[in-house]
Amino acid sequence: MSVRVVLGAQWGDEGKAKIVDYLTGDADVVVRYQGGANAGHTIKAGDLEFVFHLIPAGIVHQEKSCVIGNGVVLDPSALFSEVEDLEQRGISVEGRLFISPNTHLVMPYHKRLEQASEERESQEAIGTTLRGIGPCYQDKINRSAGIRVGDLMDTDMLPVKIRSVLKEKNDILTQVYGLEPMEDTPIIEEYIALGDRLAPFVTDTSVYLNQAIEEGRGVLFEGSQGTLLDVDHGTYPFVTSSNTTAGGACTGAGIGPTKIDEVVGVVKAYTTRVGNGPFPTELTDEMGERIRSIGHEFGATTGRPRRCGWLDIVILRLAARINGLSSMAVTRLDILDELEEIKMCTHYRYNGEDLMHFPSDLKVLAKCEPVYEVFKGWQAPTNGIRSWAELPENARIYLNRIKELIRTPISIVSVGPDRAETIVV
Ligand code: IMO
Ligand code: MG
Repeated sequence: MSVRVVLGAQWGDEGKAKIVDYLTGDADVVVRYQGGANAGHTIKAGDLEFVFHLIPAGIVHQEKSCVIGNGVVLDPSALFSEVEDLEQRGISVEGRLFISPNTHLVMPYHKRLEQASEERESQEAIGTTLRGIGPCYQDKINRSAGIRVGDLMDTDMLPVKIRSVLKEKNDILTQVYGLEPMEDTPIIEEYIALGDRLAPFVTDTSVYLNQAIEEGRGVLFEGSQGTLLDVDHGTYPFVTSSNTTAGGACTGAGIGPTKIDEVVGVVKAYTTRVGNGPFPTELTDEMGERIRSIGHEFGATTGRPRRCGWLDIVILRLAARINGLSSMAVTRLDILDELEEIKMCTHYRYNGEDLMHFPSDLKVLAKCEPVYEVFKGWQAPTNGIRSWAELPENARIYLNRIKELIRTPISIVSVGPDRAETIVV
């Protein structure tokens, strides 16, 4: 059994959960290691559809266990609403969901502060999911105000800590944003109660995972967001606040890099982005509308319309490099089925020169012109196809060109949302 990381190669929403769900067949444990309830991971099996924000998508497989690693920022009320939803559908998480005591907690003031900041900076707003992700990671890194799952277990110290942190947050709410202060007692009571509910899940997940790996069990790391939203390597500052790239699996779960056998980059057959920030191959014309409408490209977490554009090889080059991709899983190929013509950006033109690598300076990026190769569409449905050989020739030409340009094999092609609509190459 292998240790695999599955992560997004673009700006999120690549269809990671579908690939995770498919590969869970080979795994015993599925792990979330960064991000939080900003993720929206949808899986579909027959008539069943699930959207997960925090719990690893592997939970639908009743015999597998799931881990929420230390690198995640956990909103406990969001977690329990997912747990309840699963239980209503006959899926119990008892005894098979493990949460690290080092996981930081999203607190009510994180969400309030984020909303205030995003509203105030409407010109430079990041367009976040408003799930408190940034403010929670900020407190974690800042070290003075972070509250972790383990802290909930110390009911003597917890009220002291919350009161002291909230005092500072209220100063910001009232003096910087001119808002009402928040009351401490309801937060303290709520989090003590949430701590009681979380207690049975709390485990040293690093020990648990390393033991599982040693015993030869399969472990699957489920990335959230995507490479270009990585706080170090993405389109900063229009990024999320965690390391969405492969290294995040190590720091966010407490395993060493030598334990990872494979890194699968999930690549949507075109590109989308929600929220603000640069997007060189964005289509603001009818074609963009058309892709959005065929692909139902609306956020699973916020319902916002996603910006759509052609596939961008320059960002995939970055994804292959930063993550050390072993292979790519290309998703949503079927969304392109009816198009007459499909474009692929192979590189950028900047100041009259060819640029093969994604520039880190957004001012440079703003002046980059995407250079396209044009492909004939296959104009035939691919949903029913289950093997590479059966794919229309023009679809294979398109996919082969991606492989060639990224110098990375394609291991999976997804031709529909359902578990069955998958081609293993
Ligand atoms: P999954 O895992 C797509 C985007 C937000 C915003 C930026 C920062 O479903 O692919 P944040 O709330 O994280 O501080 O927002 O990141 N974003 C996502 N975009 N898919 C996601 O998750 C995302 N999670 C955050 O839209 O631009
Ligand atoms: Mg999403």
